[in-house]
Amino acid sequence: MEQHSGNLIIATNIFVEHWLSVIRDKSTPTSIFRHYSDLLSREIITAIGEELDTERLSITTPLSIHKTKRIKEEMVIISILRSGIAMTGEALKLFPDSPVGIFGLVRDEKTAVALEYYWNLPLINNKKTVLIIDPMLATGGSIHHVIGKIIPKNPKKIIVAVIVAAPEGIEKILTDYPEVKIYSCSIDKKLNSKKFIVPGLGDFGDRYFGTG
Ligand code: URA
Repeated sequence: MEQHSGNLIIATNIFVEHWLSVIRDKSTPTSIFRHYSDLLSREIITAIGEELDTERLSITTPLSIHKTKRIKEEMVIISILRSGIAMTGEALKLFPDSPVGIFGLVRDEKTAVALEYYWNLPLINNKKTVLIIDPMLATGGSIHHVIGKIIPKNPKKIIVAVIVAAPEGIEKILTDYPEVKIYSCSIDKKLNSKKFIVPGLGDFGDRYFGTG
């Protein structure tokens, strides 16, 4: 894989490793899978904080005036169905005012090509920072497709947050869109012949939604 280390950020620590080890385990039941996936979603979305503009301000606590900082960024969250739903709740906890755009993409199981069946986007312009959420960056087809729809709207920044990424998907996105930043909790080894991430965790949507 080409090195794009500037635009690829792996946010890891012992909690991330622990939580990942639980959701990778095929014997983990749905309730625990959901719990640890939510923690990982929160962790990776928190990690994008370093990309965000801030403003200095003074606030008044019950005891004194206090100089502090707040995030000053007009965020737009883009959630890719189905698995992106699993990250949306955590994204909205961190960005409670942000509009959410939805892309409905389904992966053709034979070709692994992303087919669009639904989309609904809020206003995106050069003041908006777009955060695309999807837990698994495998071939990169879906995320690539979504970025292609968003770039013409000229956003201030595009950030992709995933839980597990394959080298193939990272390569595809960062080669075609070098302005995009990818945040992931892990870079796994490879894709298998069915375009699943190895070691991965199987079908994220099936495991999170209990449909497997
Ligand atoms: N989507 C998943 O849910 N799992 C993979 O391994 C690849 C894509």
